[in-house]
Amino acid sequence: MSVSRGGGKRLIIAIDGPSGAGKSTITKLLADRLGYIHIDTGAMFRTVALAARRAGVSPDDQPALARLCNECTISFARTNGCCQVLLNGEDVSSAIRTPEISLLTSTISARKVVRDFLLELQRQMGSAGGVVLEGRDIGTVVFPDADVKFFLSASAEERGRRRYLELRARGEKISLDETIAAVVQRDRQDEEREHAPLRRAVDAIEIDSSGLSIEEVLERMTAVIEARLKGQGAGTSVRQPVGSF
Ligand code: DC
Repeated sequence: MSVSRGGGKRLIIAIDGPSGAGKSTITKLLADRLGYIHIDTGAMFRTVALAARRAGVSPDDQPALARLCNECTISFARTNGCCQVLLNGEDVSSAIRTPEISLLTSTISARKVVRDFLLELQRQMGSAGGVVLEGRDIGTVVFPDADVKFFLSASAEERGRRRYLELRARGEKISLDETIAAVVQRDRQDEEREHAPLRRAVDAIEIDSSGLSIEEVLERMTAVIEARLKGQGAGTSVRQPVGSF
């Protein structure tokens, strides 16, 4: 399906959901179709976690985390159609994707000082519109007035299986059971944290990607966006049974 590019209103689109639901793939493709900027807020939290790890800063040391945030410059660059995340100008796109950094990010992203720092940066990056932001709290906290909000979900088993295949393809030695357990653990940490916990905004459209192909998810999203651009309502919930992505 094609979707109108340029010309009209440039929307702020929020895509929230748990890890492994397909947010990154979908957000990238959707942003490309719309000619919008893709902002991966999870990559920003991961980058702070990497910076903390390198500097030997404990996730429990809030003053040190605050200093670290003040000294960090996080930005995105696009080369050959690929989006890289930069920490003080260094491409850290691969370094932030290890299981160790994933777990540390889940802890560090619960810290208010880190959330406040990135909240400000995310609002600066997205407020002009023409953006698709992916994360956990975009529709609830960062842009509660976003033009379109999606909540992309999938079962923990399905998400663990996808993550397992990704990690194996990168040569990581990890079992499927360990990957599913890590997904469940991160869900719990993300949902139970005090600041900006993972939850669906009341006005977000839920899409369960378990039984859908990437193209089918995109079709559903672009239909909603087209309707919104034409000034129609965005509907409520789109759910599908469990299956493979
Ligand atoms: O989307 P991801 O798996 O790359 O996110 C990494 C971690 O960052 C994950 O534990 C949730 C957290 N996160 C968050 O708390 N808020 C966001 N807006 C994005 C990610």
